Amino acid sequence: MIDIVISPDAPSAAAHVAGILHEAIRQHPAAVIGVATGSTPSPVYRALATRLTPEDVRGVSAFALDEYVGLPREHPESYHSVVFREVTRPLGLDARRVRVPDGQASDLAAAAEEYENAIVTAGGVDIQLLGIGTNGHIGFNEPGSAVTSRTRAVRLAAQTRADNARFFDTPGEVPTHALTQGIGTILDARRIVLLALGPGKAHIVSRALHGPMTAELPATALRTHPACTVVLDRAAAAALPGRGWGRSA
Ligand code: F6R
Repeated sequence: MIDIVISPDAPSAAAHVAGILHEAIRQHPAAVIGVATGSTPSPVYRALATRLTPEDVRGVSAFALDEYVGLPREHPESYHSVVFREVTRPLGLDARRVRVPDGQASDLAAAAEEYENAIVTAGGVDIQLLGIGTNGHIGFNEPGSAVTSRTRAVRLAAQTRADNARFFDTPGEVPTHALTQGIGTILDARRIVLLALGPGKAHIVSRALHGPMTAELPATALRTHPACTVVLDRAAAAALPGRGWGRSA
């Protein structure tokens, strides 16, 4: 079941998601939150940082969705760096409770298994924040990923490398592989909130919510989750059939 919320613009959509996360943390001080990187969640973290007190986050843990393979942790675009800069530091989380997959591990399969185990040991993810790729990926589960997939090393799609080239000096610097939570891992979260903003996401959002369920569009798997909310700004909702039928916020 997917609940759709359409907000008038990107700041209000991000504020809505920050409100959902804030409420989850207030209700459950030991909340385990799943965090996404990329452009979309940045305004959510900024809004959340203004609402949370050190007391609120004392027991909170976080797990990132993914990390590039082979990019040094110190690189400003490694997800270790991005999560520290956008989540750990501004939200005031205890860095020892924030995990990002180890994309520099010599044994990626072992690192992936260890990451899965760490999520289970933490009690599972209470609320997972997601973005969506222009090719429909969630995490770095590219088209063709199995709905049962778990954390593993994957090759990034050409579309994803092109989309993420904006974060690097040259397109050739975008890593070719990543370590990502699987679709099955993501679906294990007790609650999922996907945020999509802007006209560039309108077409894929419409297909994800209303097109055929297929591994070729990984985000369609979210339709099987019992508690998934999709928050859109008007631009990202523009291609929905009969738009306006979603709940507005
Ligand atoms: C990020 C991630 C990706 C992004 C997606 C959208 O951790 O797993 O699935 O959410 O590529 O990226 P943006 O928000 O930059 O459009």
